[in-house]
Parts: sequence; structure tokens; C-alpha cells
Amino acid sequence: MSPLPNSLQSLRFIRLGTGGFGAGPRLRLVHRLVRAHLANRGKTATSFGEQLVLIEAVLRIPREMPGAIAEFGCYKGMSSVALSLAAKLTGRRLLVFDSFEGLPEPGAGIHHLGTHQRLDYKKGDYAGSLEDVRTLIARHGEIACCEFVRGFFADTLKLRPPDETYALIFEDADLVASVADVLRHAWPKLADGGLFFSHEARDLEVVKLFFDDAHWSSTHGTLAPGLVGAGLGLPIDGMKQAAFAFAGKKSKGSCLGYTVKRRP
Ligand SMILES: C[S@@+](CC[C@H](N)C(=O)[O-])C[C@H]1O[C@@H](n2cnc3c(N)ncnc32)[C@H](O)[C@@H]1O
Repeated sequence: MSPLPNSLQSLRFIRLGTGGFGAGPRLRLVHRLVRAHLANRGKTATSFGEQLVLIEAVLRIPREMPGAIAEFGCYKGMSSVALSLAAKLTGRRLLVFDSFEGLPEPGAGIHHLGTHQRLDYKKGDYAGSLEDVRTLIARHGEIACCEFVRGFFADTLKLRPPDETYALIFEDADLVASVADVLRHAWPKLADGGLFFSHEARDLEVVKLFFDDAHWSSTHGTLAPGLVGAGLGLPIDGMKQAAFAFAGKKSKGSCLGYTVKRRP
């Protein structure tokens, strides 16, 4: 997918006016995000359009819903920049969870749902140091909203305060085991009605996690929540995205899917 700013997506986002945020703050936010992208080409695994979708989701969180925004997997920090801008506007904290050493050992194979090709992840891929992430957010985002949680999710999540809640979760952790760790330990902290975004909506083995009733009933005592956008990703680029998918190409469109936490 193209990580570069897209003027049509920007215009649609600015004109939405939802969540009590009109054209003024939206325009200022897009301006900052565009500048961040132009100054940091190649440093992001999420596209400009995907980041606008995440920002929109944050702006729409009902004000009375408690909790921070929790991000799992930040790489060089570009998705964190986007989330921090939305966190600042909505008066929330952004918790950035990452090893800051890149991916752990990949373990089980993962296949792209459209092409069935195996995704070739290696230990250490997508490494971004905490210092570099901090510097990037300080330059382009809102560092005062951010808290950084360094280490592997399975370890760090267990040490979080028991009463900590999340109003929105975004995971972009690539690996099945990493996503499973986030679901196991962070899902219980998600507020009722909160959104859980995954950046792995096109990856077969990760998608399966969201539909596995047996697993969910043993870990959370609920049925599996499913994943909106599973297989193709949320339709950020509309027809273009479908056309590329039908042609067996995996580079266009979005990898985003989401699910809502509903009261059991
Ligand atoms: C694809 S990158 C994230 C890309 C980023 N969201 C962006 O937009 O550029 C995946 C990230 O997940 C982190 N990660 C994956 N599994 C992890 C785990 N089990 N614990 C901590 N970090 C993990 C890696 O360190 C890496 O920063």
C-alpha cells in the first residue's frame, strides 16, 4: 500500500466533522500528519489512509468511555505519531507497547489470505529504538500524551495496573503469538463498546484467532468476536482495493480490521 499522503482521503476526513471535531482541528491534524509522512518516507508499516481511519476511530470514542489508547507494535513510531495527535485532541493517554528490538522469533507460519503466500518474517524485523521513537513523536506528534512500555507484550501486560482500562486498542504486531498475547492480556482491559483494531486483517492465521470460539470461551468465557474487514481489510481505497485483491496482488488497500468488545 502507498504510505504517502492522499489528498482525497484527507479531504474526506476533514469534511466528516464527526465526534464534535470540525474542519479546523481536522485540517490542522492532517497538516501535521502529512508533514510527518513527507519527512519520514519509508519509516512506516501503516499507510497514511490507515492512520486516518485510526484517528477517526479515536475522535469518535464517546467522551464518557474510560481509558487510554493502547498501541501494540510501533516500529519507528509513525502510527504512534498519528495516534498521539488524536489522543491529544481527545484528552487521552497513549500507551505505546513494543519490544523496541523488533519482532521476536516468528514461530508458526503466516499466510496472506488472498495469495496464500507465506509471509517471511524474521526475528528483529521492524526494529525501532525507544530513543528514535521518542524523537519522532516529539518532532511530529504529541509526546506529552505518551507512555512507553518496553518489553515483550506477554511480560509487560502482566505488570500493568490491574485497574488500567483501554478505550481503543490498535495492534500491529504481525506474528500470531504476539497478537494472541495482546488478545489474552489486553482484551480484558478494553472498555465495553471499545474498538480493537488489527493490522493483520489479511493474514490467515491471525484472522483465525478472532473466529475461534473454543479458544475465546476458554480464555475469556465468551464467543469469538470476529473481525470486520477480515480477508480484504477495511475498504480505504474502495474499488481499487477490490480490483488489486482479485488480481492476486497484495500491495494495495488496507490491512486494517476491527472488532467491538460487547458485554457478554
Ligand atoms: C510491523 S511493526 C509495527 C509498525 C507500526 N505500527 C507502523 O505503523 O510503522 C511490528 C512491531 O511489533 C513489535 N512486536 C511484535 N511482537 C512483539 C511482542 N511480542 N512484544 C513486543 N513487541 C512486539 C515489533 O518490535 C515491531 O515494532
